[in-house]
Amino acid sequence: MTKNIRKFFKNIYSQELAILERKSLDIIKSSKHGDMPRWRNLYDELPDVNPSFFELDGNVIKIGQRDEIDDVSYAKLYEILRQYMPWRKGPYSIFGINIDTEWRSDIKWDRFKDGISDISGRKILDIGAANGYHCLRALGAGAEFVMGVDPTLLYFMQFQLLNRYLKSDKVNVLPVGVDDIPYNCGYFDTVFSMGLLYHRRSPFDHLIQIYSFLKSGGELVLETLVVDGPQGYALTPRDRYAKMSNVWFIPSVETLLNWLKKCRYVDLKVSDISKTTSDEQRVTDWMTFESLNDFLDPLNKDITVEGYPAPRRAVVLAKKPQ
Ligand SMILES: C[S@@+](CC[C@H](N)C(=O)[O-])C[C@H]1O[C@@H](n2cnc3c(N)ncnc32)[C@H](O)[C@@H]1O
Repeated sequence: MTKNIRKFFKNIYSQELAILERKSLDIIKSSKHGDMPRWRNLYDELPDVNPSFFELDGNVIKIGQRDEIDDVSYAKLYEILRQYMPWRKGPYSIFGINIDTEWRSDIKWDRFKDGISDISGRKILDIGAANGYHCLRALGAGAEFVMGVDPTLLYFMQFQLLNRYLKSDKVNVLPVGVDDIPYNCGYFDTVFSMGLLYHRRSPFDHLIQIYSFLKSGGELVLETLVVDGPQGYALTPRDRYAKMSNVWFIPSVETLLNWLKKCRYVDLKVSDISKTTSDEQRVTDWMTFESLNDFLDPLNKDITVEGYPAPRRAVVLAKKPQ
C-alpha cells in the first residue's frame, strides 16, 4: 500500500501537497490504532491475483470477476473481506464477491452526477471519502486524479484493499483529516464534501477551508443534512441526533445558501433534497450494527429517536469565482 501511495504522489506535481504523502506514510508506520496490525497482516495475506476486469462507472463498483480467481484464493479473499467489516459505503463486487454495504452510495452519486461540471480531466478532492466509493466513481467518470482523505483507518484500509487489485496511481484515499490539507493550496477543480459539514464544529471554517483548496472557477459539491426553516435557522441538537454524538449544526436550505454566500461562493444551485430512506441506508450482511431504522422513532418514522426531524439531505453546488 505504501508503494501505491508513493506512485499516486508522483502524479501530483505540487510541493505543497507532498506533505500529505509524508504524513500518510507516518500514520501507516506508527498508528497506535489497536486493529491496525491485524488489518495490515490481513492485507499482506491477500491472494496475489491480477484482474483484467474493472467497472467503475456503474452502480456497483466491480473489480475482477469470479472466473479470474481460483477457489482457494476466492475463499481466502472472502474471509479477509469479512474481517474488514463493517462495510458502510458501496456497493462493490470483488471477483464476484458482492459486498452489500450499509449505504447505497450509488443513490447519492446519481443525485448529483448530471448537475455537476463534467468531471473528465479534473483534479478531484473528496473530503471524508470513507472507503473511496465516490472517488472510484469519479475516476470512472474520467477524472485526471482523485484524492480522498479520511482519518478513519478501517475505511482507509478498505480502500487500500480495493486498490491492491485495481492498482491505480490516479486515485487514493489518505488516512489524514481535512485540517491536514495545506490551506490555500488552490489546487483542485472539484471538491466533494459529503456527509461532513454537520460533523464540523465550525461550518464556516469548513467552507472557507474548501474555498482555499479550490482553483479559481472550481466547484464545490456539498452534501449535508438539512431541516425545514427560514433563512437564519439551524438546528443544534441538545445532545445526539439520530444517535450520532458529533452533530453540531443542521441548517435550513436557505441558511446553508447564506453560509455559502458569506464565504464568497457564487453560482449556488440546490441540486437535490431527499429524505433518507431504508432503501438507501440499512443493516446488511456486511454491516450488522444499527442503521437508519434504529435511529428513527419506532412509532413515527418522520422523527428521530430524540424527537428531531428525520434525516433529510441536500446537495448544493457552488463555485469559487474566476
Ligand atoms: C457520514 S461519512 C460520509 C462519507 C461519504 N463522503 C459519503 O457521503 O457517503 C463522514 C466521513 O467523514 C470522515 N471524517 C470525520 N472527520 C473527518 C476529518 N476531520 N477530515 C476528513 N474526514 C473526516 C469520517 O471518517 C467518515 O468516513
